[in-house]
Amino acid sequence: MTAVKKTFAVVAGDGIGPEVIRAAVSVLRQCARAFGHRFEFVDLPFGGAAIDRCADPLPAETLDACRKADAVLLGAVGGAKWDSQPLARRPEAGLLRLRKELGLYINVRPVKLLEPLRSMCPVRLRENESVDMEIIRELAGGIYFGERRSGGSGAEEFAADTEFYSVKEIERVAQYSFRRAAARRKRLAGIDKANVLASSRLWRKTVERLARDFPEVKLESIYVDNAALQLVLRPAQFDVILTSNMFGDILSDEAAALAGSIGLIPSMSLGNGSALYEPIHGSAPQLAGKDSADPIGAILCAAMLLRESCGLEREAAAVEAAVEGVLYAGFRTPDIAESGSRTVGCSEMAAQISSALAEHAVEAETYGWGV
Ligand code: IPM
Ligand code: MG
Repeated sequence: MTAVKKTFAVVAGDGIGPEVIRAAVSVLRQCARAFGHRFEFVDLPFGGAAIDRCADPLPAETLDACRKADAVLLGAVGGAKWDSQPLARRPEAGLLRLRKELGLYINVRPVKLLEPLRSMCPVRLRENESVDMEIIRELAGGIYFGERRSGGSGAEEFAADTEFYSVKEIERVAQYSFRRAAARRKRLAGIDKANVLASSRLWRKTVERLARDFPEVKLESIYVDNAALQLVLRPAQFDVILTSNMFGDILSDEAAALAGSIGLIPSMSLGNGSALYEPIHGSAPQLAGKDSADPIGAILCAAMLLRESCGLEREAAAVEAAVEGVLYAGFRTPDIAESGSRTVGCSEMAAQISSALAEHAVEAETYGWGV
């Protein structure tokens, strides 16, 4: 067994962010203990919490530490308290700046219906079908970062946001998506609005051209409105989805419902430097401080971080197995509670997953599964 030493920047943020990140960090600490690695965590102010402290949602020290870390673990940002701030001073602006500054242009959101949660899927599935897709969202461009204009007054007051994409921006995320699909079920759905938008026409043309370099992957281009329909009609048809920043934001919330709860979905953002891991749910201020948030999205971020940023496949698989084991045993946070299940809070769910992980590591050592 080779011991690994890593330093992670932790930007917990607002609302339930700190609770779910505490849960993920406790699982990573358990993983380090059980498998003999050394993980260090650097806590940093971010989002609304940082606005309150230093009037900046992304303080320079936070950005600097994120740049230096082996990976970044992020909770969630935002809340009613900061809603009246100008756009550039809102917690969300800190998140967009962090993505931009770290050069993160790929966002992977795996939406997988875990077997013990099959009955939580709101869509009727055929017996031999399940939900197992990855939504790849372009993260550094599009309408989120395009030119903004506003002016005029009274009834003539106006505001405009621009959806802008260059071939280079489309190619880099598309190439990654083809490779990702080639390593899975070899199907890629390119989602756009090419029947209306010039930016989508360029998107589709570029993706379809690249498809020739990946003959093993079957590309299907779909309009976003139809994709939204297909996601709930027959989610099993999707393997990897590639789409723009804004369509990806919207479709990933829709798809998350298929897994049983948005609280279960992790994400990974990649680009030029440190990768960033964040659950896709928001800060849910109404749940904050009640110890009832679902930490599984954040804990599955920890698994992705182990696999993708540390090359620790066995440890990642052990965390995922621990999550599934605890769900099979009937433990549920309120968002996924069912009749007969045992409802627990965020911290208890994390404790159950940590101890399942420790047991798994002991068994692996005893029976020599190559740990
Ligand atoms: C997400 C969130 C963010 C986004 C917000 C908080 C800026 O909705 O990560 O999906 O729109 O990207
Ligand atoms: Mg979103």
